[in-house]
Amino acid sequence: MKERLEKYGLNGYTIPEHIAIIMDGNGRWAKKRLRNRLKGHTEGEKRVDEIVRFSREIGIKFLTLYAFSSENWSRPEDEVKGLMSLLAQSVKKRRGLLLDNNIRLNFIGDLSNVPEKIREAALALSEETASQNYEMTLTVALGYGSRDEILKAVKDIAVQVKNGELNVDDIDAQTMKSHLYTHDIPDPDLMIRTSGEIRISNYLLWQIAYSELYFTDVLWPDFKKENFIDAIKEYSNRERRFGKTTEQIDKELK
Ligand code: IPE
Ligand code: IPE
Ligand code: MG
Repeated sequence: MKERLEKYGLNGYTIPEHIAIIMDGNGRWAKKRLRNRLKGHTEGEKRVDEIVRFSREIGIKFLTLYAFSSENWSRPEDEVKGLMSLLAQSVKKRRGLLLDNNIRLNFIGDLSNVPEKIREAALALSEETASQNYEMTLTVALGYGSRDEILKAVKDIAVQVKNGELNVDDIDAQTMKSHLYTHDIPDPDLMIRTSGEIRISNYLLWQIAYSELYFTDVLWPDFKKENFIDAIKEYSNRERRFGKTTEQIDKELK
């Protein structure tokens, strides 16, 4: 591992355990080239390969990619169709990558609107990879909306209280977490958004309470390993205080 980190100039930097990415800017990438939006998505999809391989190589344990939001269903029908078929191709194409590299594939979000065949193929690969040992978890947020996720959790908890299975006073952050799609993965240490937009767009609202946020103007189809390394270096230079003082943090690190 040390040699691999050295190779990328990352020796001595803190590597986040969990990185979440909002892969944005495909449409603008295509527009700049006078191509249709789908071309941008196709090109963006290709970037996923390099980022996944690289993450695995440097020992990132959790990578969570925002592929399609609950709000994205309201895009033009052609674009949604194109994105779904891209997803189907991606699942097919990436099977080898996941199996060869011991990567578990996980989906978060409401997949009920995803065309049945595509959903089944996606979930089958997720199951196939989950049943083996894994070095990294790749989570794809699909039909994902954080407010939906939180509402669903609140409703589940309310039902448990109503049925007498849970005491209101026992509800804490851990209870909430256990009802989220992300119940089995830690919160992101670093959240990256490409394309220059400085917003969260309904992504992991509960989970990013203490994540470091990194925004770059680079459009997702242009986002390369080098840009990813820049984000990790910046993360490493941040001081995460979790509400405490610098002096307390320094003491803890000693
Ligand atoms: C992100 O790129 C991909 C999805 C939301 C599916 P966009 O399609 O949002 O690209 P811009 O923001 O229009 O450039
Ligand atoms: C967020 O990007 C969703 C994904 C990247 C999949 P959007 O392009 O949909 O977000 P807004 O509309 O600019 O906030
Ligand atoms: Mg966008």
